[in-house]
Amino acid sequence: MQTTSIHGMWSSRLAFILAATGSAVGLGNIWRFPYVTSDNGGGAFVLIYLGCILLVGLPIMWTEIVIGRRGRMSPINSLRELSDDAGASRKWMGIGFLGVIAGFLILSFYSVVAGWTLHYGFLYLKDLFGGATITDPDATFGSLLAQPGELAFWHGLFMVMTVSVVAFGVEKGLERAVSILMPLLFVLLLVLLGYGMNTGYFLEAAGFLFKPDWSQVSGAMIVTAMGQAFFTLSLGMCAIMTYGAYLPSGVNIPRVGVTVAATDTVVALVAGLAIFPIVISFGLDPAGGGPGLIFTSLPLAFAEMPFGILYGFLFFTLLSVAAWTSGISLMEPATAYIVEATNLSRKAAAICVAAVAWMMGLASVFSFNVWSEVRIGGLEVMDAIVYVANDVMLPVGGLLTAVFGGWVLSSRITHEELDKKMPDWAYNAWLWVTRIVTPALILVVLAGLFGII
Ligand code: TRP
Repeated sequence: MQTTSIHGMWSSRLAFILAATGSAVGLGNIWRFPYVTSDNGGGAFVLIYLGCILLVGLPIMWTEIVIGRRGRMSPINSLRELSDDAGASRKWMGIGFLGVIAGFLILSFYSVVAGWTLHYGFLYLKDLFGGATITDPDATFGSLLAQPGELAFWHGLFMVMTVSVVAFGVEKGLERAVSILMPLLFVLLLVLLGYGMNTGYFLEAAGFLFKPDWSQVSGAMIVTAMGQAFFTLSLGMCAIMTYGAYLPSGVNIPRVGVTVAATDTVVALVAGLAIFPIVISFGLDPAGGGPGLIFTSLPLAFAEMPFGILYGFLFFTLLSVAAWTSGISLMEPATAYIVEATNLSRKAAAICVAAVAWMMGLASVFSFNVWSEVRIGGLEVMDAIVYVANDVMLPVGGLLTAVFGGWVLSSRITHEELDKKMPDWAYNAWLWVTRIVTPALILVVLAGLFGII
């Protein structure tokens, strides 16, 4: 068994936890979780999402880390090794190819939204030095979306930030960046939570987030909840698998998996508890906020509160940082594969990936302006990309990963990687959940998605 990866290794258990948490915690928690919760009516959605984290997310997270650590290569080649080892078909490499394609799609729109946050951080920074305060948030957001050049610029800047970390590799690039940025992120988030608690609407916000109204449940809501669980934990496209390839051998996979999944969930809930009191205190409806939710509601609060400009700057900086450490993990699987498959250097490989993803991102940029009339299957261009990548490709990738991990991967490997590290009952629970429950749940949701049931 390979004990190290040619791409480098995390220097410690903590470094992996920071990197994987950095990947998981991002726009998915702070931008997407509040707005999809808002659009889906609150409590019931949150509980279904939490169920998906536990029954679908966590088992797949463990499986991805095991596959990565045993293969020690990019997902595509790790899957080839492990299929060979199990005497199974090399077609399982397809999970890796699917993941690379999904990664490009997600990175393309992710970087555009991350560009919005960079732009907002910059607006508040200018404001700190006497620029114009955002007084009409709808107009500010609308005018940003109307300018393709502006969007493409910030999207490009995000891509440059991301590629400059990935180009330096695991130890010097990824690890150094996350060990500074993640603790900073947690501090900033707690500051914002403190503010939310002081608005006087904290309990009302908590009620919206946690009191289920089961009449809101629908098939579409469950699809979104599962898609969100995959997206927020960075699962289904081999990103965590790639990070697992750099995990030192002795580290306890079940434990780090729980740490990462729990941290990600807590951050999403804290973000919700920080944001909804503000939304409610300004007399806005917590339901039906849409993708603009944080960009149009929070600036109202920042314009009124003492030191609001500073808060605004901190908040959007926080979000950009969170997006950055996630963007890194979206770029890493394809970069690692190109390094293995060609004789390009890591730098050149990362630049190629970034260039292609930037160009693909222009489709999302144009979807708000020049192509605003275009519909693909009834959806706006960016929504269509998000739908295909998040709601279809991630669950399909996750389904195949679970089947591979539960049924194909040699049980010698899963025993060594998981069973020795946890009580037998927990290992058996993982095995049967991964074999039956997780695939069944995903299949039901996918069947619903395609209108089969
Ligand atoms: N999880 C990140 C977020 O919540 C986004 C992300 C990073 C991601 N890597 C991923 C999503 C891999 C799916 C797959 O913002």
